[in-house]
Amino acid sequence: MARCFVTRRLPGTALERLSSCHEVDVWPERLPPTYEELVARAAPVEGLLTLLTEKVDAALIGNCPHLRAIANYAVGYDNVDLAAASARGIPVGNTPDVLTDATADLTLALLLAAARKLPEAVAAVREGDWLTWEPAQYLGAEVHGATLGIIGYGRIGRAVARRASGFEMTILHTRGGSGSDSVDGLEALLERSDFVSLHCPLTTETYHLIDDDALARMKKSAILINTARGPILDHDALRRALVAGQIAGAALDVTDPEPLPADDPLLEAPNLIVVPHIGSATRAARERMADLAVDNLLAGLDGRAMPHQVNAAR
Ligand code: DGY
Repeated sequence: MARCFVTRRLPGTALERLSSCHEVDVWPERLPPTYEELVARAAPVEGLLTLLTEKVDAALIGNCPHLRAIANYAVGYDNVDLAAASARGIPVGNTPDVLTDATADLTLALLLAAARKLPEAVAAVREGDWLTWEPAQYLGAEVHGATLGIIGYGRIGRAVARRASGFEMTILHTRGGSGSDSVDGLEALLERSDFVSLHCPLTTETYHLIDDDALARMKKSAILINTARGPILDHDALRRALVAGQIAGAALDVTDPEPLPADDPLLEAPNLIVVPHIGSATRAARERMADLAVDNLLAGLDGRAMPHQVNAAR
């Protein structure tokens, strides 16, 4: 029986499965442990199940002499220092596939909401501003037949493309996970797309991939969607672009920082939708993510390869 620390309660029954074979300490609060609390609670454990809100860095790993397995409850693992874990021979697991459809669905929801000005239209009804049927009110962008540029053509990017094909959109895309390794040419993609959607992982190469220059290449009528990771997009550049009318709108599920403070200057920009990182937030997806994270942790603690291991520790 190994000691494990799980940094939040998870939906479904996966944690019961973990507790039936190991001694499990679950952080009980709605807010994550602070870094200091995480370091203290993780210090004695062999297994760690973390969320994307936890920074699992070299110092933390170094402070856990017994640590043998890390399972991250997310497909992204930019919050984990993979090199530090690998150097100690600690396998790290993630939760791919099970959230692909939920995240692709939300991407389309954001694209449609931004294109058709849903937030303004909903607010108008509640504020008593639905005065009559007006020929030129809430005019949005046509989605059907438009060009969608997908940056990062991995599992989620492809799932977005499949949905977009139902709208008879023309798809341009970069290759696999990287934002800059481009089939269609990143610059051409930005210049030709009516909608640009980000699906690459956050790495040193994709940090601020979308900056002032990239935004300046986009059409003035274009809309940017980010359901990947906040820091892929330079938020100051986005605010400038929205205020100047350099692009027509943006819809973000992810921000930098997260959570985005309610008084963040970005929220003053026009034509912006922000939702609180809910791409995978369906009950089914989150329960399946918990199952995968627990499967990963159990395998790692058993000395078996994790079903979804992202490093070559073993
Ligand atoms: C992930 O899994 O990386 C998402 O951002 C949250 O589900």
